[in-house]
Amino acid sequence: MSQKYYITTPIYYPSDKLHIGHTYCTVATDALARYHRLRGEEVMFLTGTDEHGQKIEDKAKEAGVSPKEYVDKIVEGPGGVLDLWKLMDISNDRFIRTTDDYHVSAIQRIFKKLYDKGDIYKGTYKGKYCKPCESFWTESQLKDGCCPDCGRPVVDAEEEAYFFRLSRYAGRIQDLLENTDFLQPRSRVNEMVNNFIKPGLEDLCVSRTSFTWGVPVDFDPKHVVYVWIDALSNYITALGYENDRYDDYDKGWWPGVNIVGKEIVRFHSIIWPAMLMSLGEPLPRKVFGHGWLLLDGGKMSKSKGNVVDPYILAEQFGVDALRFFLLRTFPFGADGNFSNELLIQTINTDLANDLGNLVSRTTAMAGKYFGGTLPAARRYEKEKDDELVSMVLGLRDKYEEAMEQYAPHKALEEVFKVIQRSNKYIDENMPWALAKDMEANGARLASVLYHLLEATRVCGILLTPFMPGSMGKLFDQIGAEENCRTWLSARMWAALDAEVSVTKGENLFPRIDMEAALEKLEAAEAEAKRAALPDVEIEPQTEEKVDFETFCRSDFRAVKVKACEAVKKSSKLLRFTLDDGTGVDRQILSGIHQWYEPEDLVGRTLVAIVNLPPRKMMGLESNGMIISAVHTEKGEESLHLIMIDDAIPAGAKLC
Ligand code: MSP
Repeated sequence: MSQKYYITTPIYYPSDKLHIGHTYCTVATDALARYHRLRGEEVMFLTGTDEHGQKIEDKAKEAGVSPKEYVDKIVEGPGGVLDLWKLMDISNDRFIRTTDDYHVSAIQRIFKKLYDKGDIYKGTYKGKYCKPCESFWTESQLKDGCCPDCGRPVVDAEEEAYFFRLSRYAGRIQDLLENTDFLQPRSRVNEMVNNFIKPGLEDLCVSRTSFTWGVPVDFDPKHVVYVWIDALSNYITALGYENDRYDDYDKGWWPGVNIVGKEIVRFHSIIWPAMLMSLGEPLPRKVFGHGWLLLDGGKMSKSKGNVVDPYILAEQFGVDALRFFLLRTFPFGADGNFSNELLIQTINTDLANDLGNLVSRTTAMAGKYFGGTLPAARRYEKEKDDELVSMVLGLRDKYEEAMEQYAPHKALEEVFKVIQRSNKYIDENMPWALAKDMEANGARLASVLYHLLEATRVCGILLTPFMPGSMGKLFDQIGAEENCRTWLSARMWAALDAEVSVTKGENLFPRIDMEAALEKLEAAEAEAKRAALPDVEIEPQTEEKVDFETFCRSDFRAVKVKACEAVKKSSKLLRFTLDDGTGVDRQILSGIHQWYEPEDLVGRTLVAIVNLPPRKMMGLESNGMIISAVHTEKGEESLHLIMIDDAIPAGAKLC
């Protein structure tokens, strides 16, 4: 029986569009899941969405829809979470939404179990609450009086609430963290023990009464289950724990591996095992806390206005190149600074130069010198070949060791050492020189090219979890049949047919012109931002009333444009000479040049208020104001002059 491997991402908050930081976490977990499948293990890969809580309730209200409608759109709608994972080639086997019925009823049962066990009790919550993060903090955890996660102000909060007796588990959790490999990387253990356990683990507030968008506590329905019991339990309810939707919980899938970002390590390595201890269930095999992708040294967040849209990046550079970049560049356990320049550089260096060149040079030479099919005759030259062969044969073990340590960046580093060595092998053996005398050197040339194809094949296998789509194409180009694409064959030499046929196909990773790409990216980002803006925005009506007398004192008249010209040195102002029916010309200045050319307005009948005090603009006097309609369209102000029937005489009063 093959081993079962269950791996999860955190469940994402569908409160905003997901950004490249969320994508990092999911792509990493996907590569790990694919790695285990490649090894022939049975894999269950879970991801999903964490859909309850006050923030969602507030956002839905703002959007004028129900919370369920709000999350449905972000999760299942076009460009939503499901679409993003499809685009990024995420191979999850299951997707859980915490609003799924089976999860909701399982949470009610889990809550009751913990209550019956005596680990949940009713009390009063007094504390500091960060609304955007939906987190309670103690005074000592605040940073400069603000939320230690997002830096925003917190408020005092007090309400009746249920508590989970976390304190009861402090000793066992400390032991788990310090004396096992439960939590990785190891550096996070000290952080948890010193910052949270040693100062004294406080009981945890696990219900709220101040909002309703959550799982109701069935035996006390004015409470909803607050965040962590609801969210963390997803890893087991998705297998069928306390529900009938699935029945995989007892089938060897649990315990699984929980991959999470560093800011939620606290919840996963303290609260989560304590909950499971209380339920009497096995603890996760591992919690791995990865670092953050940062922008200019700071956290990515929409509120900072610097979100990087994975759709735009994938569209421009390709899904596989983006997946690869994320895992090749940043050590998984540490933070990394994301930039578009770094992305392009990595694609150019690793994928276009190193891997792309290796494949295109090798297939091109096999085509040019042998018509695409290598002859079986070979001449090995031990001193020239051995180093490459032993690197290729040793690669799988090194890769495996890195992947087992949750270090995909190290695994990729090993693969690229072999790719770079292969390119060097081309330069050392100079196939073009061998080709000059095919009779004498044909067998050697075939041997050199075969070595290159074999090295490429093994690297291709090990790159498959990272770039599944492109590696399929690579195998087709180098003539690797299914049996040469397996984990087993990654530690075998000469798996390819002796008379292997190659095809020179499309360039897998074209070189990117940095400047042009950055410009295009900027334009695409601006366009996406524009597209996200409302089509038409209208200023809300003023609630304050104006009394009738005051209104009547405003003197609106029909006016005819006798002349109109642009005011010199002003990009905005037009100078109108108007017939207002008095027989004396009236001059009004209006900042509308952006929308109208002066010559188009001559002869039109407009509306003006004529009893405003005179005002000087650019040294010219303006006597009144021309009335127009204003609204915002896709974030830009739009203006239309009010033009009325030309049959209305100049000076007619409008009331
Ligand atoms: N809903 C909770 C998780 C509950 S799991 C039982 C949550 N959601 S989240 O959408 O805010 O974050 C989901 C994951 O994305 C977290 O692991 C978080 O660390 C990760 N990331 C969010 N921004 C990130 C970066 N900028 N960089 C790397 N990972 C990031 O937390």
